[in-house]
Formats: sequence, C-alpha cells, structure tokens
Amino acid sequence: MQELFFPVIETERLTLKPLMPEDSGSLLEVFSDPAVMRYWNTAPWSTIQDALTFISESNASMQGQEALVLGVYLNATGELAGKCMLFSYEQESRRAEIGFGLGCDYWGKGYVNEAGEALIQYGFDSLGLRRIEAEIDPDNYASAKALEKLGFTLEGLLRQRWEVNGVISDSAMYGRLVTDNPGIKCG
Ligand SMILES: CC(C)(COP(=O)(O)OP(=O)(O)OC[C@H]1O[C@@H](n2cnc3c(N)ncnc32)[C@H](O)[C@@H]1OP(=O)(O)O)[C@@H](O)C(=O)NCCC(=O)NCCS
Repeated sequence: MQELFFPVIETERLTLKPLMPEDSGSLLEVFSDPAVMRYWNTAPWSTIQDALTFISESNASMQGQEALVLGVYLNATGELAGKCMLFSYEQESRRAEIGFGLGCDYWGKGYVNEAGEALIQYGFDSLGLRRIEAEIDPDNYASAKALEKLGFTLEGLLRQRWEVNGVISDSAMYGRLVTDNPGIKCG
C-alpha cells in the first residue's frame, strides 16, 4: 500500500514523481511568482526554506497515505515545471481533491491536461477513488478551463468561503466521478 503513495507516472511529455530536496530551488522559482500564486490562498513563497518545508511536509503526507504530491518534470529536459496533487483524501468515501500549479513559462502547452488526466486515472485505477473534486477561485478562468477540459463538472458556488489578508472570496466546486465519461461529448 505504501508505494501507492510514491508513484512515478509517465506520460508522453511528462513524468510525475515525488519531489526531492534538490528540487527546492526550481520549486521556489515557480511558487515565489505572484502570477502563479494569484488565486492561491497563501502568499507567494519567499525563501528556500518555504520550498524545503513544502517538500518535507509533502513526503510526510505521502508516508501517512494522506495525499499524493508530485513534481511535474519535462521528459525532454528533466526540468521541473511545477506540481500536481491529490489531497484531502477520504479513504472511506473514496474521494480526494486535485490541484495543480505550473510556472508561467509552462502554461498553455497542454501540460496540465496531460498530467491531470494521468493523475486522475491513477486516482481512479490505483487508489480506487470514486470522486475527485476541485475547489477554485471563480475568477481563475485558466483553471476553470483546464478543469472543464479534464472532464470536470461545475457543481456549485460556495459563497464567501475564504478570507485571506482581509480579502473575501467565493469558491467554485468542480467534480469528476469515475463513472463520468468525459471522452463522449454531444454535438
Ligand atoms: C491553471 C493552470 C493549472 C492551467 O494549466 P495549463 O497547463 O496552462 O493548461 P492546459 O494548457 O492543459 O490547458 C487546458 C485547457 O484550458 C485552456 N486554458 C488554459 N489556460 C487558459 C487561459 N489563461 N485562458 C484561456 N484558456 C486557458 C486551454 O486553452 C485548454 O483548453 P483547449 O485545449 O480547449 O484550448 C496553470 O495556468 C497554472 O498553473 N496556473 C497557476 C496556478 C493556478 O492557478 N492553479 C490552479 C489553482 S487550483
């Protein structure tokens, strides 16, 4: 069971695998960028310690079988483009939440579509999930588009769910079930 939470998932252009301390510099570069963190509920990272803490907490949550936090690496160059995760794992309900974050140099290239579909299939097939959900800022248009492309359905709006530094924001909730068939579209 333990190794289920430390997978290496390969796609045509990407490899998803657990982050290592030596990734801390590249990870800091991505998550210290205010453009990447614009819709996040935490401030941009500022020191290498932020990245090291994230990596060690991620590993602890995977050891504890609570989450999957994987770096997204380009097969062509080995560079770290960002991370993707399944978290808030509820084993009995067979549900988890999905999240993504890529550095802005890597946006708009279909990487989240490719990484996301592989992670979703891993969640359904290997972790036995029945439902994967995503919570985003309704203003995060890129994320909404990426989720729709991944076959998620907008299920509702949770009003005034967050208050960060005095700024109140809503959450849009998306879901995809193992029984949904995003490959089949009408029209
Ligand atoms: C949101 C994010 C994850 C999207 O990843 P991405 O790799 O750029 O998305 P993809 O290239 O796979 O695109 C998937 C679909 O969304 C669309 N899309 C992505 N970004 C878009 C944008 N800024 N405007 C319009 N459409 C966009 C793409 O066009 C594509 O649809 P299409 O194939 O029909 O054209 C990425 O921009 C990101 O990491 N942003 C910063 C962090 C963040 O906000 N994460 C989400 C919070 S949970």
